[in-house]
Amino acid sequence: MRQPKWWQDAVVYQVYPRSFYDANGDGVGDLRGITEKLDYIASLGVDVVWSCPFFVSPWADGGYDIADYRAVDPAFGTMEDFEALVAGVHARGMKFVMDFVGNHTSDEHPWFQAALADKNSPYHDYYTFRPGKDGREPSNWASIFGGSAWEYVPALDEYYLHLFAKKQPDLNWENPQVVEEVLSILEFWADKGVDGYRLDAINYLYKEPGYPDVEPLPGSPYGFATAHYANKPRVHEHFRTLRSRVMGPRGLSTVAEVAYLDDETARGYADPARGELDMLYLFDVLNVDQQGFDKFSPLPLDLPRFKQALAHWQQVLHGHGWLALFLGNHDQPRAVSRFGDEGRYRARSAKMLANAMYFLQGTPYLYQGEELGMTNPHYTSLSQFKDVEALDALRAGLARGESEQHWLELLNARSRDCGRAPFSWNDGPAAGFTAGTPWMDPCADAAQINAAAEENDPDSVLNFYRTLIRVRKGRPSVLWGRTDFLVPEDPDLFVYTRTAEEEALLSVNNFSGEERHFPLPQGFAGGELLLSNCGAPQLDEEGVLTLRPWEGFVLLRKQQP
Ligand code: NOJ
Repeated sequence: MRQPKWWQDAVVYQVYPRSFYDANGDGVGDLRGITEKLDYIASLGVDVVWSCPFFVSPWADGGYDIADYRAVDPAFGTMEDFEALVAGVHARGMKFVMDFVGNHTSDEHPWFQAALADKNSPYHDYYTFRPGKDGREPSNWASIFGGSAWEYVPALDEYYLHLFAKKQPDLNWENPQVVEEVLSILEFWADKGVDGYRLDAINYLYKEPGYPDVEPLPGSPYGFATAHYANKPRVHEHFRTLRSRVMGPRGLSTVAEVAYLDDETARGYADPARGELDMLYLFDVLNVDQQGFDKFSPLPLDLPRFKQALAHWQQVLHGHGWLALFLGNHDQPRAVSRFGDEGRYRARSAKMLANAMYFLQGTPYLYQGEELGMTNPHYTSLSQFKDVEALDALRAGLARGESEQHWLELLNARSRDCGRAPFSWNDGPAAGFTAGTPWMDPCADAAQINAAAEENDPDSVLNFYRTLIRVRKGRPSVLWGRTDFLVPEDPDLFVYTRTAEEEALLSVNNFSGEERHFPLPQGFAGGELLLSNCGAPQLDEEGVLTLRPWEGFVLLRKQQP
């Protein structure tokens, strides 16, 4: 069999440090907290720990607004704590990956402060400042978080560009000095033992000069200008520089958060022969239950569309790149609340989701708490929400005259805070997350759904994940098999085969609370049951399966020699 790279046969566990575990009782998760829970993480059988940002930050965007790239924020601990964490990860045979936020800094970063203080400072050109046009912004580009992407600085009589929050000015990668700074930051952490990087919003590095006006969004003077800043050809050059100067020589892996991709660009980024990126974390695959770009205009899950999006990327990247597989992250609601049944069939549907997603081709990225089937937090007051995106959307919604009750429901279903509520460790105060007052309230159901309870239940979601991670490891069909979706138009069934030379597997999943019938595909009768959330599949003499609500299983068949 072909030998995989270490990250191809890996499962990654993503930690959002502020919400994982608080070791010092100040209410905020910290690096020592992660270190204290490494045995738990390792017990899942995962190979890699990815931590979201823990650098000095005013926390305007959950730590993705960095004011010092080389220092641990005191809220998270010290550099010694970081070194102990990496040593602890390595001692357990795992790798450590961290975020690199290169598209923007915090407005409190000394570079930006210097840029504001003096137009002639070399740091002014680290960012994008432009004069206004006809007394307005240089263009009508919208910020991803709402409003204009330009902010006026009266003292300079100029605007600066921020694709995200106004406290996140975009770096100017056309300035070679900026690229050198970035390379040296990447080397700094590599010297400290980091094994790879998750590259944040990294396909936005190049903005078309001229910043042409775009079609405004309904009811707004601003419009999404992704055509002018996402995946521009110059980005490939930047990726090759990162690879040739740092990632390649140091043997670091890269996973890149990328959106709005076409097939050719995706292969261009990820084809190993081109030396750019290792894995693509395709942001828009999970946008299948919303209207356009607006996550606060939810739609019911369109399963055929979801399957089609996954099938598409499986096919485009098969032999031409490698995908990150995920059901959630710190920007998404909880998968079981969103795609499963968080009520009667919570555990079963959480297991089915994992069964459906993680036998596709790619590297699974489990987000903390997903392995417990944690649900959205079900807050009862708008004051419990913290995230900039949620608060901006709420403000705009209320200004349009929409009701608070409507927004409470929306934020409980769709906001990024859904995934950022503290990890539920046990049924104690603050869900065992902290001995102090938690910075965010725990989930309403933490007393029932928590790691301690699941540890003791052989049938728990947690133990299902452990089995899943064990059985997928090293399997030729999982690693290299071709993916074929069956019944792509079926609104409830999510069925695919993965066919390799040595073996083939079949993953069958019922995304509904109803019984469904499905003929067992040829060749899988008598196949080995690798994994199931309901025990042995129900198969009649005619070879027809009766699938129970939210049932999911995987069968393995040895190929004929
Ligand atoms: C993607 C990150 O996952 C998200 O949390 C952040 O707000 C944006 N990039 C901007 O850095």
